[in-house]
Amino acid sequence: MMNLRKFKTVVAALTAFALGIAVGPAAAAGDEDVRMEPAPVSRLDVESLQRGARTFVNYCLNCHAAKYMRYNRLTDIGVDIPQIQDNLMFATTKVGDTMTIAMRPADAKAWFGAPPPDLSVEARVRGADWLYNYFLGFYRDDESATGWNNLVFHNVGMPQVLWELSGSNRLVTKEFENVHEAEGAAIAAKGLAKVEHRAGGKVALLTLTGDGKGSQPEAEYRKTVADLVNFLDYMAEPAKNKRISLGLIVLLYLGVLFVFAYWLKREYWKDIH
Ligand code: HEC
Repeated sequence: MMNLRKFKTVVAALTAFALGIAVGPAAAAGDEDVRMEPAPVSRLDVESLQRGARTFVNYCLNCHAAKYMRYNRLTDIGVDIPQIQDNLMFATTKVGDTMTIAMRPADAKAWFGAPPPDLSVEARVRGADWLYNYFLGFYRDDESATGWNNLVFHNVGMPQVLWELSGSNRLVTKEFENVHEAEGAAIAAKGLAKVEHRAGGKVALLTLTGDGKGSQPEAEYRKTVADLVNFLDYMAEPAKNKRISLGLIVLLYLGVLFVFAYWLKREYWKDIH
């Protein structure tokens, strides 16, 4: 039997763990100085999920794994097995395999300064909005090791791997006398913007501007990113789609039941009125 002290320790550990989970995403998303755009994603849009899966296996699986995702699970979003084998599998030949990669974490750390984390449940850690803005937030920075930096993730070790699609963004810095002016300008800028407090009480507003050299025009790149984030969000919790469709069926059933119940009630009360 577990003695009381042990029990208390376990309870304390579990509480800390639960709090960590509760606080984690809030802290990650709650960086007050960054104004993010909401991610235009819909996890019931199967075509968007398929496009996102394609981008994911083409551009992300070189460095990141998704070890809780099996290739044959992609059948859930309407891709059949031959399509998976022909178009989506590069690292393995077995559709029952999980999405692992050949790179060793130690090598990755040496190359990038930080190992690329597994992305299976990344969307639960960061949230869809953060991920969407992360992929809008890359810009050229000659001082960083990879030549890239990110407005949402300062000094990130990951290069902008979608740069051929997006082109290269440049950082635009404007200084303001106080935080209210800077916040106002951030709202007026409408997109992703970061307000940074500088020495001497000055406040800087950081935004990005594209060079227009990407193979996709900006609106199309945003769609590509939205599809990718949609897929990351789906992958982090595939069963949620089942829950949503089950919920809709239940509501439909209740709706039909209501019609009959109402009709029955009218029948019963007809003679009394
Ligand atoms: C060239 C290797 C490489 C490729 C390709 C790559 N990444 Fe990364 N990624 C990294 C590294 C390294 C990090 C860790 C950066 C750090 O912590 O500074 C990272 C970090 C991330 C993070 C932040 C993780 C976190 O929460 O701290 C996300 C999200 C991410 N990558 C998503 C993707 C997606 C989606 C793709 C495909 C479009 C992709 N990456 C392609 C190397 C790569």
